Amino acid sequence: MSLKAEDVFRPGAFPEYTYISRKSTVSDLSYEFRLMQAIKVSGFLTSLVGPSKMGKTILCEKVIGFENIIEVSGADFDAETDFWKVVAAKAGLAYEGEFSSEKILTDTNDKYSKKETYSLTKDKIIEYYKNKDFILVIDDFHYTPKGKRMQIAQQLKDAIRRGFKAIVVSLPHRADEAIRQNADLSGRLSMINIAAWEVDDLKEIAKVGFEKLGIKIEDDVATQIAVESLSSPQLMQYICLNICTILEMSEKNEECVKQEVLKTAYRYTTANFEYRDVISLMQRGPHMRGKSRNSFRASDGNEYDIYELIVKSIAENPPVMELKLENVKERIHRLIADDCKKPTPQAIKESLVKLQELLDGREDIFKVLDWKEGVLYILDPLFLFYLRWGGTGKKDV
Ligand SMILES: Nc1ncnc2c1ncn2[C@@H]1O[C@H](COP(=O)(O)OP(=O)(O)OP(=O)(O)O)[C@@H](O)[C@H]1O
Ligand SMILES: [Mg+2]
Repeated sequence: MSLKAEDVFRPGAFPEYTYISRKSTVSDLSYEFRLMQAIKVSGFLTSLVGPSKMGKTILCEKVIGFENIIEVSGADFDAETDFWKVVAAKAGLAYEGEFSSEKILTDTNDKYSKKETYSLTKDKIIEYYKNKDFILVIDDFHYTPKGKRMQIAQQLKDAIRRGFKAIVVSLPHRADEAIRQNADLSGRLSMINIAAWEVDDLKEIAKVGFEKLGIKIEDDVATQIAVESLSSPQLMQYICLNICTILEMSEKNEECVKQEVLKTAYRYTTANFEYRDVISLMQRGPHMRGKSRNSFRASDGNEYDIYELIVKSIAENPPVMELKLENVKERIHRLIADDCKKPTPQAIKESLVKLQELLDGREDIFKVLDWKEGVLYILDPLFLFYLRWGGTGKKDV
């Protein structure tokens, strides 16, 4: 039976046919090897950190295997949740329960039954995990409330000493205090940092996948998709899947990915994401209390204020996830018509600070930027992709 595109390109699930192994940046070793090596060190907790959508969960699933992995999400815990209760339940163990026992009293021959309640002890759960070779993966640990993270770290510290195996996964610089900066865990941690994907590795997803489907793709076309995927294997999978759908729907029965199809595929891919509210919040900027904002005349003939210009500058070519203040300034100046007034670097900087404040403290979907020490980091590749190709994006590449 021939493979279907949706089996080969899987943006939301384990990519059985297009799994690509990468080398870690600090060594010549693959991430799979490093994780396996870390798991094997008894008495150590593994901390896996990396940007959003870079394949942290998939890596754990690949290395541990679905038979042995027990996945819990940081979001499963709130301040009141009993850590061990969740850990037991996820492994299919009933933590608390009742059982009845019947006894026949020897002297009177009377039967009596009695109900007893039990609750599993932590020791029993640890033993169960060890016997079954289960490895606990606490995914998205940054979703656990701060105070609770410390409590969980404490529990883990004690459990790993007794041979319990666990991996804590989180985004960079989030949830660090409980694990990486926790003095109690120092000397007991294996730390693995997952880097953003390079174009060459992303390209492999397209090459391997299209080959499996019997569709040709030129190296140059694969490179272009990889660049547009902004270091995200998930985007790469998404775009490739959409290319397949476009090819399947076209009457021509194409067996080759042509350059012409790319822009349509990018646009169709944005239909899966919803960043409209994030973008309009950013474009509006903070409330001005009646004052009006300076506007600048751009070379497209329209007037934009500084927040609209910042948003536009982020979407410019080439697509990159990190921009220094200088780059933002250059991009904005390039957008403005010759001889027209341009915003100063100081004004741009102040607006970036305000923009960050505006986005902070909102729902997770708004956490798309980080303005830190003169560098604007785009935290979410899907956001940047949407900005470039969604409703408002109009890129000439
Ligand atoms: N090694 C890989 N080879 C090919 N595709 C991959 C690989 N790793 C991840 N992907 C693709 O990227 C998607 C996202 O991966 P994953 O869910 O593991 O990211 P994550 O880092 O855990 O994201 P989040 O921060 O949202 O939890 C996968 O569903 C898959 O399509
Ligand atoms: Mg994940």
